[in-house]
Amino acid sequence: VPVVAVVLAAGSGVRFDPAKPKQLVALNGKPIVAWSIEAFENDEHVDDIVVVVNNTVREAVEQLIDDASYAKVRAIITGGAERSDSTEAALTTLADAGIPQDAKILIHDAVRPFVSRQEIDGCIDALDEFTAATVACPSTDTILLTQDLGDREVIQSVPERRHSFRAQTPQAFRFGTIRDAYAKAAGDPDFRPTDDTRVVVDYLPDQPVAIVGGSPRNMKVTTQDDMPLARALANALAG
Ligand code: C5P
Repeated sequence: VPVVAVVLAAGSGVRFDPAKPKQLVALNGKPIVAWSIEAFENDEHVDDIVVVVNNTVREAVEQLIDDASYAKVRAIITGGAERSDSTEAALTTLADAGIPQDAKILIHDAVRPFVSRQEIDGCIDALDEFTAATVACPSTDTILLTQDLGDREVIQSVPERRHSFRAQTPQAFRFGTIRDAYAKAAGDPDFRPTDDTRVVVDYLPDQPVAIVGGSPRNMKVTTQDDMPLARALANALAG
């Protein structure tokens, strides 16, 4: 079956720097989004790549894909206001292209430039047993679930640390599964999932989502505070 990577690069990145979209910031001379695309381009098990952009970054992303001659990029499409809108735009494009229900879809945050071959292939393999899987990193911190009391957050519960993971990407699905989950979620206009596995967990609760071991290297570049580590990793990996 076809394996398709969707690289989500349509965020506004306002937490980073309103002046420069973070997906275009260079690490060791290469824009963050190019690092991410390249991870899938260089993985022999990935057939096609769809890149999701916004109007601010479209031209720059088109240019860098052209310059690097990435052979697997089939489409550069426009995302939406929320991350889940961008995922849905990609799913619609794939449906229109006639992608089979059992195709393996890997959805990846463009701002995780250091995703490893092992993480990508781990997702692809997990879909032989499960209809959904996500890369996730065992939490070395104890995770606190909280509730908002108005003027203060207080703890609601504390999950066992050995069962606490931080969700990363890629998140992988059989095409039919993620399409179904999003179709069910469409009835709830207030649903604003920050990742795609949550849509399956909430709307297809019978379908277990497998955990694929991630690592701190698969960090998300979100704020300026992340840049020193991102630069160091980029130099180490390139060097
Ligand atoms: O906003 P957040 O940090 O969760 O973004 C994670 C990824 O999703 C980023 O790569 C960002 O470009 C992408 N995104 C998107 N469309 C949005 C919001 C975020 O493609 N509307």
